[in-house]
Amino acid sequence: MDKIIRIGALISGGGTNLQAIIDACESGRIDGKIVFVGSDNPDARGLERGIKHKIPTFIVNYKSIIQGYKKEPEQVVMPDDFDIDDILVKQSIFPDNTSAEKIKSFLITRAVAEAKLLEEMKSYQIDLLILAGFMRNFTPYFIDRVNTNPGVQRIMNIHPALLPAFPGVDGYGDTFRYGCKVGGCTIHFVDYGEDSGPIIGQKTFQINEDDTLDSIKEKGLKLEWDLYPKCVQLFAQGRLKTVKMSHTLQKNKIYQRTVVKIAQLA
Ligand code: GRF
Repeated sequence: MDKIIRIGALISGGGTNLQAIIDACESGRIDGKIVFVGSDNPDARGLERGIKHKIPTFIVNYKSIIQGYKKEPEQVVMPDDFDIDDILVKQSIFPDNTSAEKIKSFLITRAVAEAKLLEEMKSYQIDLLILAGFMRNFTPYFIDRVNTNPGVQRIMNIHPALLPAFPGVDGYGDTFRYGCKVGGCTIHFVDYGEDSGPIIGQKTFQINEDDTLDSIKEKGLKLEWDLYPKCVQLFAQGRLKTVKMSHTLQKNKIYQRTVVKIAQLA
């Protein structure tokens, strides 16, 4: 059998994807073990799922950190190793026309929260971090401290749309309102942008005339519960490789992108 990988999970809400992964670990469909469940939201119902399965849980309350900064910005203590210039250059969450003030307050508050997350996660020695309905974007500060091995991506996310269409917080809603005839979900590695990292797996469903936003969410979630554990197992088996691809387009323009290649089982 493959090595049992150590998986950390972060959630913000109900945690049905977390449950699918816990179940897959327990039944041997994933060669892995969830070693913690963390949340940015003290009221996340998914925390109960962790507790029920005797998995340690913790909370880093993003909301109170953000409110604290708004009230008394001078009271905020930045992590010692936080280099805002480095983070500003790397981040690609915000478009170029975003005000410097907005970006700065985002990066500062998130880095404070992320330092607390890293502190909580430190003792668990994880191989993989899965985001299962974790509704916060990470800054490069956090990402670089999890992806410490160059070229090895260790943060996985599930997104409720067929990326690169409809990044952001409401993938199924955006898909429905746009009038798409298919919808889907995507598992991807997390990079410095919003829902922009290398794609690991996708599944699609038909959207019919009688579908509603609720019925679309229902179809999508069922696919998520199937797809996410399968992608985590590919990681556990060491079958996910990221490769930088380069293509020459018209007028000799070069298009480069890091993509995931899935290796066959040896
Ligand atoms: C899922 O649709 C996931 O794709 C999105 O948020 C929802 C979380 O559901 N990011 P749950 O908390 O796993 O039940």
